[in-house]
Amino acid sequence: MTDFASLLVPDRGQKARAIHLVDKGSFVSWLKKRPAEDRALLEAHRFDGKTPYAFAILPRGSEFEVVATVKNAEDLSPWCLAALAEKLPEGLYKLADGGPGIASLGWLLGQHRFDAYRSKPKDERGPRVLVTGEAAKIEEMLRLAEATALVRDLVDTPAADLGPAELEKAAADLANRSGAQLRVTTGGELAEGYPLIAAVGAAATLERAPRLIELEWGKPEDPRIAIVGKGVCFDSGGLDLKQPSGMRIMKKDMGGAAHALALAGLVINARLPLRLHLLVAAVENAVSGAAYRPGDVVKSRKGLFVEVDNTDAEGRLILADALAKAGEDNPDLIVDFATLTGAARTALGPDLPATFVNRDDLAAELESAAREVDDPLWRLPLWEPYDEDLKSSIADMSNTSGNAMAGAIYAALFLRRFVPEQIPWAHLDTWAWRDPGKPGRPKGGDALGLRAVFAMLERRYSSP
Ligand code: BES
Ligand code: ZN
Ligand code: ZN
Repeated sequence: MTDFASLLVPDRGQKARAIHLVDKGSFVSWLKKRPAEDRALLEAHRFDGKTPYAFAILPRGSEFEVVATVKNAEDLSPWCLAALAEKLPEGLYKLADGGPGIASLGWLLGQHRFDAYRSKPKDERGPRVLVTGEAAKIEEMLRLAEATALVRDLVDTPAADLGPAELEKAAADLANRSGAQLRVTTGGELAEGYPLIAAVGAAATLERAPRLIELEWGKPEDPRIAIVGKGVCFDSGGLDLKQPSGMRIMKKDMGGAAHALALAGLVINARLPLRLHLLVAAVENAVSGAAYRPGDVVKSRKGLFVEVDNTDAEGRLILADALAKAGEDNPDLIVDFATLTGAARTALGPDLPATFVNRDDLAAELESAAREVDDPLWRLPLWEPYDEDLKSSIADMSNTSGNAMAGAIYAALFLRRFVPEQIPWAHLDTWAWRDPGKPGRPKGGDALGLRAVFAMLERRYSSP
C-alpha cells in the first residue's frame, strides 16, 4: 500500500514550493500582482486561467513555484490537485492560499499505484509531498485515501489471486487490526443456513469454496448497523454464461464487498459509537457439473422459495441470504453495496451509484452527505407496481422479471423482499470501476459512494 502518511504532512515551516490555485474569475486579478517575468512566461505559454487542470512552472532562481487552474478556487473539489500530484517533480509543495481540505484526497490518490503485476514500478519519481496547515484534517484524509486505495487494489487484483479465501483474509486482517470478531460460515453449515450463497457458489465448491464472512465490532449497547457486500470474485454468468465482452471485467464483481470492507475500516478507525455487523457474501459464479442451473428452485434462508430464471442474476441471490441474516438482529440501519446490474450503468453511467432507499429521510441524509463530500450518487425508485413481475410459475418468486426493462429496479425490489420492512435500508448498485481514467482516478477499480455513506454514518452517529 502506498505510504500516504509521507505525502501529506503538517506545516512546520519547511521550505516548500508554492502552488497558486486560480480559476476563471480570479486569474486576471492574480496575474496583475505577479512579477513581470511571471506575466511574460504565462503569456508565452498562453496560460489563460481558463483551461481546467492546466499548470505552469514559475522559475525562482534554481527553484520554482507553480500556478494551476481549478474550477473553483474558493471551493476545492477532491480531485483538483490530482493532476498536479501526478505530474510535478518530487519535492515539497504548499498551497499559496488556504488549506487543501478535501483536495488533499486527490493529491494522495494521484500518487497511488497498483504495481503488484509490474516487473518494475511505472513511476520511479520520489514523493510529491504536500505541506498543510490543517493538521487536524491530515488523519481524516489519510484514512479516506487508504479506504479508497483498498477498494481499488482489491478490485484490480485478478480473480486468480483474489477468490473467496482472499476476501476472507482481507476481513481477517481488519479484525486482527481492530480486535473485531470474525465468523466465517462454509461447507455444510453454509448449505444449511445460507442456501442461496451455497447454490451460487456450488460450481466452485471444491476449488474456491463459497462463504459468508461476518465481522462484529463495537459495544453491544451502541446502535447496531449492518453493512453488506456482494463478493462475487468472478462472475462468468454461470451456465447462462456471459458474452466475452461482458465477462472481461468481471473480476470486479466483488467490488461491493471491497466497499463494505473499506467502509467497515473507516467506521472502526473513526471509532464511531456503533455496533457494527459486516457481512460479505463471497462466491465465484463458475461453471461445472455442480453448478446451479436455470430452472432450479432454492429455499432461501428466509424461507421463500426462489426460482432461478438466470444464473447471471447471482448477486441478488447471495445478498438475499446475507440481508436476511443482517435483519435478524434488528439493526438500526442496513446498507449494502453491490455491482448488481448492468442496467444501473445504462441508466446512470459510470459515475453514479444507483441508490435505493426504503425511507425518504434516510435518502435525504445520504444525498446531502454525498453532495457535501463530493461523492455523488443518485436515487432510483423502489417502484411498487413492478414488484409483482418477480413471479414464478412454480415457486414463491423468480430472480428476474423476465423483461428487459428497469433491471436495476427489479434487482432492488428482489432484495427488498429479504429486508424486514421496519428497518431503514439503503442499497447502492455501484460500478466499482472507472474507464477511462481521470486524474487521481486511473482506469480500473474505484470506490464510488463509499465516502458518501461514511459521511452519512458520521453525521447520524457521531457523539455530539
Ligand atoms: N455482475 C453483473 C452486473 C454487472 C454487469 C455490473 C456489468 C456491472 C457491469 C450481474 O451479476 C449480472 O450479470 N446482472 C445481470 C442481471 C440479468 C441477468 C437479470 C445484468 O445486469 O445483465
Ligand atoms: Zn451476473
Ligand atoms: Zn454479478
